[in-house]
Amino acid sequence: MRTGVRCSARVLVFGASLRENSLNDRLAVLAASTVAEKGWLVDRATFADFECPSYDADVEHGGHIADGAQRLRDRLVAADALIIASPEYNASMPGALKNVIDWTSRIKPQPFNGKQSLLMSASPSMSGGNRGLWSLRIPLEHLGTRVYPDMFSLAEAHVAMASDGRIKDAVLQKRFDTTIECFMDLVEAAKHYPALKKQWVEFLGEHPEPLIDRVEESDASGVQSGASS
Ligand SMILES: Cc1cc2nc3c(=O)[nH]c(=O)nc-3n(C[C@H](O)[C@H](O)[C@H](O)COP(=O)(O)O)c2cc1C
Repeated sequence: MRTGVRCSARVLVFGASLRENSLNDRLAVLAASTVAEKGWLVDRATFADFECPSYDADVEHGGHIADGAQRLRDRLVAADALIIASPEYNASMPGALKNVIDWTSRIKPQPFNGKQSLLMSASPSMSGGNRGLWSLRIPLEHLGTRVYPDMFSLAEAHVAMASDGRIKDAVLQKRFDTTIECFMDLVEAAKHYPALKKQWVEFLGEHPEPLIDRVEESDASGVQSGASS
């Protein structure tokens, strides 16, 4: 973890719950203020900003993309990174979040591709909603988002947060801060050090096809080429 001056980056932060007083939205607020304190630009959204009707291929083929997906697309394009605090429903991700991701993935160029993301969750349960994050990784990684390996899940979240929005347990609060700081280090490295050698080839099981291959390569000099589906 680095402690020097930070480089600029912009992060979109939202909780994936429509509920008033959502635990995940409260965690998203804490993440947003932590990132802002460390010097990044924060675009704070609410899940209501991205509300979409259920995905319908006939609607899409009629030339319409849900407005909520279009708004998420615009805010993703403007961001270097994404932090989502998501509830766990029935040991998985909320259907409404998957629906927004599905709609948004239909926009070309596909806007999740190449974004860095950090996932977190809050739940009254002892697992903190962590299983839902494992299912959320799947569509995001499939779409070319680099999902940070560490995830933060707050167990017994209904009693774990203080009235000032911070986590009561000092050790957990420190772990939260460290996870965010290490994520920021990685995003800054990916954004500001073009000599970083990157090779990213997503194998989707199809035959190679330049129009849809998701390949990002750079040689050691940092010259980069990319294609996205
Ligand atoms: C349909 C449904 C399924 C749920 N399933 C789980 C679950 O599998 N694991 C869990 O920890 N909490 C589960 N919960 C409880 C949620 O974690 C809890 O309602 C939480 O507060 C939702 O997040 P929010 O406060 O951000 O809205 C479920 C809640 C609902 C409504």
